[in-house]
Amino acid sequence: LACGEVGDGRFAEPAEIAFQVESYFKNFGKWAGKKVLVTAGPTREAIDPVRFISNESSGKMGYALAQAALNRGAEVTLVTGPTRIAPPSGVKVVPVSTAQGMHKAVLKALPKSDIVVMAAAVADYRVLNPSKSKIKKTNGELSLRLTRNPDILGDILRRKKTSQKVVGFAAETDDLRRNAAEKWKRKPCDLLVANRVGGRKGAFNSDENELLVFARGRVEPLVLKRDLKSRLADRIMDMIEG
Ligand code: PMT
Repeated sequence: LACGEVGDGRFAEPAEIAFQVESYFKNFGKWAGKKVLVTAGPTREAIDPVRFISNESSGKMGYALAQAALNRGAEVTLVTGPTRIAPPSGVKVVPVSTAQGMHKAVLKALPKSDIVVMAAAVADYRVLNPSKSKIKKTNGELSLRLTRNPDILGDILRRKKTSQKVVGFAAETDDLRRNAAEKWKRKPCDLLVANRVGGRKGAFNSDENELLVFARGRVEPLVLKRDLKSRLADRIMDMIEG
């Protein structure tokens, strides 16, 4: 670590280590035999062989959820877009790049999963005809034609068995509660976890987050105050348990 502050190999914060040990022993074996599918990270949609459309997702939230399920003894499959962080050891990692790739991987793992947690930031659109070679610069403007990507969460909700639990996320820049409540109506997951993106305290790429969790049977969403993503992931797992 040239700067001594950030980078690969930096020792985890003592509070994070203490929390992981506590979580492991508190929840040991609770989910033994359960299969949990987690999506994490961004997707990348090619413009040409060297450029892509993507977003700021680091994968931290999804990886924390995978770790929390692992701590409970579940068998965890992590379908992940490209990230710079190491996945928890012990999970089955399925690396994907595009939304279409993630769609395929998730549908393949779905039939064997008891719980599905969709924390990935999936691109809603992809470039209709990505160029096969690097697009050359000209003096004029460049237009890209975008087409809709599959709605993976929507597909899961259509196909899932009643015994399977599904947790969806909602990432919003404005009017979090109202927009997330509308999303939950359109996509009635068992839990809909809403967070704010953009701005100084946005959820992307931060070690911390604050959440509103919409759950069946609750009129008002539960407010989970700003905390480490690992602690919040554990709270979400508690809520899945019911
Ligand atoms: O990775 P981090 O840096 O830790 O940041 C965490 C996070 C902000 C990415 C995460 O907490 C989060 O909010 N993930 C969902 C981001 C998102 O795509 O939200 P959305 O409101 O656009 O989508 C709603 C839900 O539909 C999500 O569960 C998403 O995974 C899913 N989706 C979206 C589009 C699409 N085509 N298919 C989907 O399945």
